[in-house]
Amino acid sequence: GTAQIGVTGLAVMGRNLARNFARHGYTVAVHNRTYARTQSLVADHASDGTFVPSESMADFVASLARPRKVVVMVQAGAPTDAVIDELVPLLEPGDIVVDAGNAHFPDTIRREAALRDKGLHFVGTGVSGGEEGALNGPSIMPGGTTESYESLGPILEAISAKVDGVPCCTHVGPDGAGHFVKMVHNGIEYADMQLIAEAYDLLRSGLGASAPEIGEVFAAWNTGDLESFLIEVTAEVLAHTDAATGRPFVDVVADAAEQKGTGRWTVQNGLELGVPITGIAEATFARALSGSAPQRAAARGVLPADTLAWNIPDPGAFMEDVRLALYASKVVAYSQGFDQIAAASAQYGWDIDRGAMARIWRGGCIIRAKFLDRITQAYERDPNLPLLLADPYFTAAVANGVAAWRRVVSAAAAHGVPTPAFSSSLAYYDGVRAERLPANLIQAQRDFFGAHTYRRTDRDGTFHTDWSGDRAEQTW
Ligand code: 6PG
Repeated sequence: GTAQIGVTGLAVMGRNLARNFARHGYTVAVHNRTYARTQSLVADHASDGTFVPSESMADFVASLARPRKVVVMVQAGAPTDAVIDELVPLLEPGDIVVDAGNAHFPDTIRREAALRDKGLHFVGTGVSGGEEGALNGPSIMPGGTTESYESLGPILEAISAKVDGVPCCTHVGPDGAGHFVKMVHNGIEYADMQLIAEAYDLLRSGLGASAPEIGEVFAAWNTGDLESFLIEVTAEVLAHTDAATGRPFVDVVADAAEQKGTGRWTVQNGLELGVPITGIAEATFARALSGSAPQRAAARGVLPADTLAWNIPDPGAFMEDVRLALYASKVVAYSQGFDQIAAASAQYGWDIDRGAMARIWRGGCIIRAKFLDRITQAYERDPNLPLLLADPYFTAAVANGVAAWRRVVSAAAAHGVPTPAFSSSLAYYDGVRAERLPANLIQAQRDFFGAHTYRRTDRDGTFHTDWSGDRAEQTW
């Protein structure tokens, strides 16, 4: 065969990736379970470039030049395994299977090992940017072997988004590293979205502002430090009017957030690695709370609010406080997400360059933002930076907003506006900077009821106090 890359699974993401390859001059083998979809892609988009359609998987594989590069773009889970099982017997050593779906990284680790045993490369690849990104340039996060990246990397870099001419694609690390980083990207996406939603709720509640008015605030914020795709999207949806009712669109959208699972995986992994990703966790739980219909029905109108009435003499100052609180909370969420990447990298032996991750998130993906440049610079200054928040740039950026952040979180509590992400981010900030945390008391309690032992501030060793006896201290 002569095709340089193949795509199997031609639903909207696969279709757009195939078109993107073709537009970059690659000959693209295309395949789909139902052939009609393959035919319609070729018929509708011939002008994009050269497609080689196949009806059977065997013909599809045969149409590819070796080493073959096959992008699998089907639903995560069992459908992905089914396609891999069908592909593997048709491939030869050195061929590369790319899973570009939102796979869970432990599945990717398992699949990579299984294919490696057969002499094949398996490249679990995060792809972010939705339909639009897939077609015009996504952010791409490939895992797998360095060897596979040598031949596959240039093709992926070619179709990726570019920022200042730099591709938003790099080799992330072995086996599951690419899908892991995509998972954390999505977790951060959840945190960003929740923080924006809390800011919106505060402006709505505090100022009684309408959705289009708040949209204008976000549009203005998008010209400063907060400049990002999600802020831009927010301004657009807030400005949109519902055709059926003539009301602001967001006012007629039901307030129960859904999810496909990547946020949940991120939180599960954070618990497993013991990394406090509280911003992502609160964002994920906030979605769960919004969808807890029976609980909300039981509480509505029953649980007393006992709030103060808002009194905001200077709306401009309030808006600026909310903006600063949003920025500071966002830095916390990213700092936590990058801690999780560092912990996973150490745990799974991935050696991930965090600065490079921020670099490939600058364009194409859902969390793309001006601010990511600053993160890359922070990790360039110190590749082993233990805490992003403690990088001098971010310390100064947050310091500028700490007082505002405290005012916003206090006001939210006083006025009954739920701000789990704002509040927990501030609590994290105060926790991580604390001279002394009350964990001393936790340790004392644990030792009291379970003889779990403690360490002392004044000398080395492990100790236990005989609480039920004479309360003498024993060295353990
Ligand atoms: C992206 C998005 C993409 C998708 C999420 C949405 O990077 O392009 O993150 O992966 O939009 O799966 O996630 P939820 O459905 O869980 O909100």
